[in-house]
Amino acid sequence: MLNLLHLSVSYGPTEVLRDVSFSVAAGSIVALLGGNGAGKTTLLNTLSGMVKPKSGQVEFDGRQIAGLDAYSLVKAGIVQVPQGRFVWPSLSVNDNLLLGASTRHDKHGISRDLDRVFEYFPHLKPRRGVAAGMMSGGEQQMVAIGRALMAGPRLLLMDEPSHGLSPRIVQEMVEVIRRLNSDGMTILLIEQNVGVAAALAGATYVLANGEIAFETKGSTVAGDPAILKAYLGR
Ligand SMILES: Nc1ncnc2c1ncn2[C@@H]1O[C@H](COP(=O)(O)OP(=O)(O)O)[C@@H](O)[C@H]1O
Ligand SMILES: [Mg+2]
Repeated sequence: MLNLLHLSVSYGPTEVLRDVSFSVAAGSIVALLGGNGAGKTTLLNTLSGMVKPKSGQVEFDGRQIAGLDAYSLVKAGIVQVPQGRFVWPSLSVNDNLLLGASTRHDKHGISRDLDRVFEYFPHLKPRRGVAAGMMSGGEQQMVAIGRALMAGPRLLLMDEPSHGLSPRIVQEMVEVIRRLNSDGMTILLIEQNVGVAAALAGATYVLANGEIAFETKGSTVAGDPAILKAYLGR
């Protein structure tokens, strides 16, 4: 579904991603691990059109999409759940979710997808009128995922969805991501939590200093202290 070929990205003179190539097959969960500053968010921002690549190709369903603007990419079906959630704190949960559908005009589809979001996150339904800023970190992460789903993605880009959440909430998050995937969603998952990647992903790539340093199965990474220490600093 998604092929990255020799992708390089710079901020001014500083090259942050170098010659990154990998693929995400339709229906799969691919994880991208890496320590702070490795370039993970830059990679997702490049795929969602927030950052323009310096060179290389990105192919989505056979179409070249590198350098397209964010709006066109959302329309094409690539939707990002940003790092740090970025919910609108003073808006209700419901309005935050509907903002995700702002590129769409199909009223029936939007209302069907809103029902679907509340199926994934039943906990949000009775709180749909509450200001998102009043909710816990875990609930805000659910709002952020729900908002992305409201755009009608075919490829979901998730940037550290487990960050800052308690182990119990992380487990809930893992279950939801697994369900989304078994319902057909293709997911590129960025994580620093190796356990989350191991629980969910097939192919797993480790990004270090802007390059793909390692390709493996999530479960293998989790069991290899040398890899954890070398690439994730723990
Ligand atoms: N907008 C930006 N302008 C300049 N440098 C940036 C910008 N965003 C990130 N960087 C730098 O690029 C590198 C990779 O950052 P990032 O992609 O956020 O890494 P990660 O998500 O893996 O922590 C870091 O050194 C960071 O300081
Ligand atoms: Mg990041």
